[in-house]
Amino acid sequence: MIISVPKETYLGERRVALVPASVPPLVKSGQRVQIESGAGIAAGFTDDAYRQSGAEVIADRPQLFQSADIVLQVRGLGANPHAGAADLDAMREGLVIIAPSDPLGNPAAVRQLAERGVTLFAMELIPRITRAQSMDVLSSMATIAGYKAVLLAADRLPKMFPLMMTAAGTLTPAKVFVVGAGVAGLQAIASARRLGAVVHAYDVRPAVKEQVESLGAKFVEVPLETTGAETAGGYAKQLGEEFYQKQRELMARTVAGSDVCITTAAIPGKPSPRIITAEAVHGMTPGSVIVDLAAERGGNCELTKADHCIVENGVTILGPTNLPSEVPTHASQMLAKNLTNFAKLVTRGSEFHLNLEDEVVRTTLATYRGDIVNPQVRELLGLEPLKTAEGLPPVDHLATK
Ligand code: NAI
Repeated sequence: MIISVPKETYLGERRVALVPASVPPLVKSGQRVQIESGAGIAAGFTDDAYRQSGAEVIADRPQLFQSADIVLQVRGLGANPHAGAADLDAMREGLVIIAPSDPLGNPAAVRQLAERGVTLFAMELIPRITRAQSMDVLSSMATIAGYKAVLLAADRLPKMFPLMMTAAGTLTPAKVFVVGAGVAGLQAIASARRLGAVVHAYDVRPAVKEQVESLGAKFVEVPLETTGAETAGGYAKQLGEEFYQKQRELMARTVAGSDVCITTAAIPGKPSPRIITAEAVHGMTPGSVIVDLAAERGGNCELTKADHCIVENGVTILGPTNLPSEVPTHASQMLAKNLTNFAKLVTRGSEFHLNLEDEVVRTTLATYRGDIVNPQVRELLGLEPLKTAEGLPPVDHLATK
């Protein structure tokens, strides 16, 4: 079976879906690995390094797609709709794509792949269960984003983070407020603590208080009713506008007293909850910095503009949407591990093997034999639920060639 890795074509994307160190285990398990020439350069991996690891380097991109049984990508069509469309013609029926693909943000792209007969595993759909952790690309990338957000804030802040007792007097530590203590938030807390900041954090899921405190941060207690704010899968639920209105009012004081706010509040498949108002920004000391990691889905701060730097009343507001690409070597290393772990689950020796009894495989499968099989994507596209048991195609094996 041939596993192919094209060069990423999304503007500014520096990551690659496979690193040289991930090639030998695939080759050992009977796969042929092809990589597009130059695909790893921006992440620090040369064509020669891939060759030495046992991959074939291919210059002809359409040929790379046409000959592939499985394609691994950092950004599948849905996450790269403009440039990615150029590859559609080279995708043959039965091709398997394993890639983050923004299926809930861009369901139309899922339809395009279904129409071509491509089998898509959209990696954002991986369930957050213990067994799937080693394949969870969202967690991997959020870890990097949380770390990098702190560095961005530290770079922009006109103060240093740590407490310093110097001959020229004592410098007080920076105060960092992290909103949303999921994967990105917890990493932001840990990174800000490592730099010596005093860190406060808040999350609607009361269960995370202990994790926040174990990292040396203080949990901000606000009198808000958060019972039932968590799904069985460990994500936040969307709460009513009345809740958010109250949260904005209660958070404004903590925001005003912080040098840095890092916001990561997210609800899967929904717009980012609005937590910091323009008024709250005006309450901050000039020089303060907000890094809004939720910028891609509208932002947690009212003034955030995705991929722009806004300065409002002396407060800098950053809304970066692709921080993992700023740390391409480690981001690619983590992605490669996640994607190859998943690839192992859908291969048996050098054969593609689709076991729909496996929850991780079933949940991640977005298209199959020309159909859109993920219930959420179907709903977003206004399609009827599939008629087969559990809305899924029958358990089956699929020959790819
Ligand atoms: P997550 O789901 O693990 O964490 C989000 C947290 O926000 C949850 O703990 C949730 O309970 C909390 N939350 C939801 N509503 C809230 C509210 N009203 N107030 C306080 N907390 C609230 O998500 P993860 O993986 O940590 O990602 C966080 C954000 O970072 C997402 O928006 C994600 O898209 C984004 N991200 C951004 C990147 C970038 O480069 N900008 C890269 C990777 C992730």
